[in-house]
Amino acid sequence: MDEKGSVPFHVAVILDGNGRWAEEKGKSRSFGHQAGAENVKKIVRAASDMGIRILTMYAFSTENWKRPSAEVQFLMELFGEYLIGSLEEMKQEGVQMHIIGERNMLSSGLQDKMEKCERETAGNTKIRFNIAINYGSRDELVRGCRLLAEKVKAGELEPDQISEEILQNSLFPPASRDVDLLIRTGGEQRLSNFMLWQISYAELYFTPVLWPDFDRSELIRAVQEFQKRDRRFGGLQEGI
Ligand code: IPE
Ligand code: IPE
Ligand code: MG
Repeated sequence: MDEKGSVPFHVAVILDGNGRWAEEKGKSRSFGHQAGAENVKKIVRAASDMGIRILTMYAFSTENWKRPSAEVQFLMELFGEYLIGSLEEMKQEGVQMHIIGERNMLSSGLQDKMEKCERETAGNTKIRFNIAINYGSRDELVRGCRLLAEKVKAGELEPDQISEEILQNSLFPPASRDVDLLIRTGGEQRLSNFMLWQISYAELYFTPVLWPDFDRSELIRAVQEFQKRDRRFGGLQEGI
C-alpha cells in the first residue's frame, strides 16, 4: 500500500473536455480531439518522469458509439494515427503499451495497430500505459463473469471457489490492479462507466480544467492533492 506522501502507483484518467475546449475557440470538435491526443503524449512523459508506474487513460467508452458517426469515425482514425505515431517515442522512453476494451467491434486495421504497439513495447518496464478504447466497466464485468461461467461449465471451477481475486483476474489484465488516484478533467463529477471494480479505494480528483489544457503542472497538482489524503482502507490508520 502507498505510504502518505508517495507517488500513486496506478493513476487512471477520464480525459474529458476536448469538444468544449475546441468549441470555446470556435473550432470543430475534431480539432479538440487532435489537441487531446497530443496532450496524451505529454502526460505519459510527465507521469513517467514522476515515477507513476501504471497510467490508464479512458479514450473511448462503450457509450461513445452514440455520438454522430462522423465523430466516431474521426476518433477511430485518430486512435490508429496516435498509436503508430507515438510508437517510436514509447519504445525509446521505456513505455509498455496495452489497449483495454472490447476489440472485436473495431476495424481490423486498428486491431493490427494495437497488437503491433503491444508486441513492440512488451519488454519495456519504465511505465505501463493502458489506453481504454471501446471500454466499459459493466461490459468488462459481464465479460469476466462469462469467462468464469465457462470454467464452471467445463468443470474447471466450483462456484464457491469464485473469490474477489478470481473475479479480478478475469478482467482486462493490465488494468486489473487497483487504481490509487482517479483524475477526471472537464468539470463533470461522474465516472461514466470507468473501472468501477478497480476504483473501490481510489482517491478521486475532479478538475474543471479541460483535457487539452491539463499539463504537467496540473498532473503535479493532482498528485500533491493525493499525497495529502489520508487513506484508511476501512481501518483506523492509514494503510491498515
Ligand atoms: C473526451 O472529450 C474525449 C472522448 C470522450 C472521446 P469529449 O469529446 O467528451 O469532450 P466534451 O466533454 O464534449 O467537451
Ligand atoms: C467519458 O467521457 C468517456 C471518455 C472520456 C472516453 P464522456 O464525455 O463520454 O462522458 P459523459 O457522456 O459526459 O458522461
Ligand atoms: Mg465529454
